[in-house]
Amino acid sequence: MHSIAALQTIIGEALTERNFPDNPNTLYEPIKYFLAIGGKRLRPVLTLLAAELFGATIKEGLPAALAIEMFHNFTLMHDDIMDEAPLRRGQETIHKKWDINTAILSGDATLIRAYQLLAECKPELLAELLKVFNKMAQEVCEGQQLDMDFEKLATVTEEEYLHMIRLKTSVLLGAALEIGAILGGADKQDRSNIYTFGVNIGIAFQLQDDILDVYGDPSKFGKQVGGDIIENKKTYLLINALQLAKGSDKQELIHWTEINEFDQQQKIDRVTAIYNDLGIEKLAHKKKMSFAEQAYQALEAMAVAREKKLSLIEFTETLLIREH
Ligand code: IPE
Ligand code: IPE
Ligand code: MG
Ligand code: MG
Ligand code: MG
Repeated sequence: MHSIAALQTIIGEALTERNFPDNPNTLYEPIKYFLAIGGKRLRPVLTLLAAELFGATIKEGLPAALAIEMFHNFTLMHDDIMDEAPLRRGQETIHKKWDINTAILSGDATLIRAYQLLAECKPELLAELLKVFNKMAQEVCEGQQLDMDFEKLATVTEEEYLHMIRLKTSVLLGAALEIGAILGGADKQDRSNIYTFGVNIGIAFQLQDDILDVYGDPSKFGKQVGGDIIENKKTYLLINALQLAKGSDKQELIHWTEINEFDQQQKIDRVTAIYNDLGIEKLAHKKKMSFAEQAYQALEAMAVAREKKLSLIEFTETLLIREH
């Protein structure tokens, strides 16, 4: 089995090789820019790890892995428009560097590329692969919509939040793994276990993302720190702060989520100060670890030799402490 670093290199090289056409440059340049500014390539690594785990070769797994990464990049291009995000991977987002229409169409063309790559998989597996891929893609859209709907709600429960992040983020990690498992010929039970493992590390991953959005080091994070606070995202942090805050802190927190005109840095500083008083970061880390625990249980249940699972454990450990 290849190491995670080796897989990242393989994916990085394949992404540049399989480039987009040249014309019209106004369509393809922003896409190439977005793929070239980096990204951790986590999801295609999962696909290849699962493929190898169940006996497929890298060559057999690569088109699907790239399809997953293209799909992910499509979601980010459109997500950055929706979240009005200025930065991605330490660089300007497409809608900032070009404009919103360009970012919409870049996303569309990248999604189409995802399906073209998926279509390169073994024909006898295509129906099953499409079923898993399409279910995931639809759920991601549902999760994105809920994420935006929640911005406008005064209260969102922890349960509703977990449902939302399961859809917008976690099912993609689950599907990335299940698709690799299908390519390797895994049986139903193992497919289900590896999917559950992926969904649970996905939830832990999004919790870490919420934490980094407030507490990340701006020189490492690559995105705007405080973006979720500005947008009134109902993250695990805000939901719990709204629950735990008392008296004037609670009033102030509600005030910041209600006003339309504000100084961005002041809002970020004040909301973060309230989070600090309430010990919200620690709470979020605890929740994250509980999902990692659930992920490991699903991994335990998988009928594969323990040494073959080590890469997935290593992968999870780095996700939990990631800084970008
Ligand atoms: C960002 O995912 C989107 C979330 C679900 C938080 P990544 O952090 O994997 O993004 P890149 O591809 O590495 O930039
Ligand atoms: C990511 O949610 C979900 C999707 C892109 C589908 P975020 O909005 O938290 O992701 P970042 O923080 O912009 O990467
Ligand atoms: Mg978003
Ligand atoms: Mg976003
Ligand atoms: Mg985020």
